Amino acid sequence: GSNSESKRGALIVLEGLDRSGKTSQSSKLLTYLEGLGHSAELWRFPDRSTNVGQMISMYLSNKSQLDDHTIHLLFSANRWEKRSLMETKLKTGTTLIVDRYSYSGVAFSSAKGLALEWCKAPEIGLLAPDLVLYLDIQPEKAAERGGYGGERYEQLEFQKKVAKCYQVLHDASWKIIDACRPIEDIEKQLQEIVLDCVMTCQKGKPLSNLWS
Ligand code: TMP
Repeated sequence: GSNSESKRGALIVLEGLDRSGKTSQSSKLLTYLEGLGHSAELWRFPDRSTNVGQMISMYLSNKSQLDDHTIHLLFSANRWEKRSLMETKLKTGTTLIVDRYSYSGVAFSSAKGLALEWCKAPEIGLLAPDLVLYLDIQPEKAAERGGYGGERYEQLEFQKKVAKCYQVLHDASWKIIDACRPIEDIEKQLQEIVLDCVMTCQKGKPLSNLWS
């Protein structure tokens, strides 16, 4: 509406394999939106700053071992503990650029062999993104970029499985971005899509919950 107090922020999620460029494109998007005078924040999951996040971080760096179901639920809990703050930010007009979300949760756990529906269940009721940007890259290409930091999932064979699981998960609403093009081209493409989404949300598109 025309009342500026009613303008809400957009929930924008970036997904993709490790080394697909999500993190650098997320921060470029933040700079872009702030440059236009929008209120925006960069979030990422896992959020390693919380107690749950520290358990996740220990697991990812192979300092602890956890059952596959247990770590799946911790990743989900890590999103639930941020849900109310997320809703408040969005309702008070801040756009959130989120580096990984529930789709990572489902793709990575189902790549280990957990049932898809079981993986989705704990995500039900989290806020649904207004936009999912999937940075599409072949696992082999991502591996060539180097910089796999040695964390638990950063191995080519596993990333291939994750890529297949993302394919099962994605729907027509996702924007699939060819992540092998020059960084500046990707940046431009993302800016257009994101600005369009921010405007749509400002015009009053209602917030909804996963999975919808
Ligand atoms: P990061 O490298 O983006 O911090 O993510 C850490 C790893 O955790 C990455 O390999 C993807 C994985 N992951 C899950 O397995 N489940 C989740 O819910 C999330 C958010 C990430």
